[in-house]
Amino acid sequence: MGKIVIFSGAGLSAESGIPTFRDAGGLWEGYRIEDVATPFGWIRNKQLVLDFYEERFLQMQKCKPNAAHLAIADLSSYFDVICITQNIDTLLEQAGVKEVWHLHGRIDYHKCEWHYSIGPIDADWQCDYRAATRSPTQIGDLCPKCNRQLRPDVVWFGEAVDMRTDRLYEIVSQVDAFIGVGTSATVYPAANLLRFFGDVKEKYFIDPNPAYDVLNGFTVIEGTAAQKVPELVAVLKAKYQ
Ligand code: OAD
Repeated sequence: MGKIVIFSGAGLSAESGIPTFRDAGGLWEGYRIEDVATPFGWIRNKQLVLDFYEERFLQMQKCKPNAAHLAIADLSSYFDVICITQNIDTLLEQAGVKEVWHLHGRIDYHKCEWHYSIGPIDADWQCDYRAATRSPTQIGDLCPKCNRQLRPDVVWFGEAVDMRTDRLYEIVSQVDAFIGVGTSATVYPAANLLRFFGDVKEKYFIDPNPAYDVLNGFTVIEGTAAQKVPELVAVLKAKYQ
């Protein structure tokens, strides 16, 4: 068995206590997405955005990897596992997974509000400052390179994701198995990954309410991540070890 790609969404972390998006009926922990997860929300009210991400930061600090994260870490000690996640928590890293791509950024990093990855709304300056942070970003935490306000290093609606397509093309031909877990596969371009890895012979999808319309050719496993990921890991280890 060569490479296994595991593409995950909020459902992977639901049993660790981090609510999913669609279950929240369009709100994110009681906030309107447009107020706290868009560039215009940032321009309108930076304090509200930073308050929101401070709550997410402190909430995620209290959460622990669940059986699914731990099973993925176990799998990665037997096979070359690449995790591509839409989640901003770091539960896969905490479980011991070595290679995790955060398509939508991560809560424990911040970056200059004019970072080149977001294409500043109305600035001709592009900064490259981003760094890990051990505490939530506050108003007055300024970029050491250009003195602009720092913001959470997460992808907001309308911003580019770090799809690393060159790296994706590099691995897609060597992938022997693809596992999707806990995503409604509704947010693009991340959701394109299901199609991108469509030719992989062995592909599974774990979700209590799978989006069947985008899963042709997949072995769909109905159930939660913490229940079903460990079972699938045991099957793959027995089959290929
Ligand atoms: P969603 O909330 O859209 O979908 C969560 C998926 O997880 C659904 O398919 C649920 O059925 C499933 N689910 C719920 N509980 C589960 C469990 N215990 N085990 C396994 N699956 C479970 O979350 P995402 O698909 O991750 O974008 O959403 C993708 C993106 O939309 C997010 O990254 C965010 C959001 O807007 C940005 O922040 C840019």
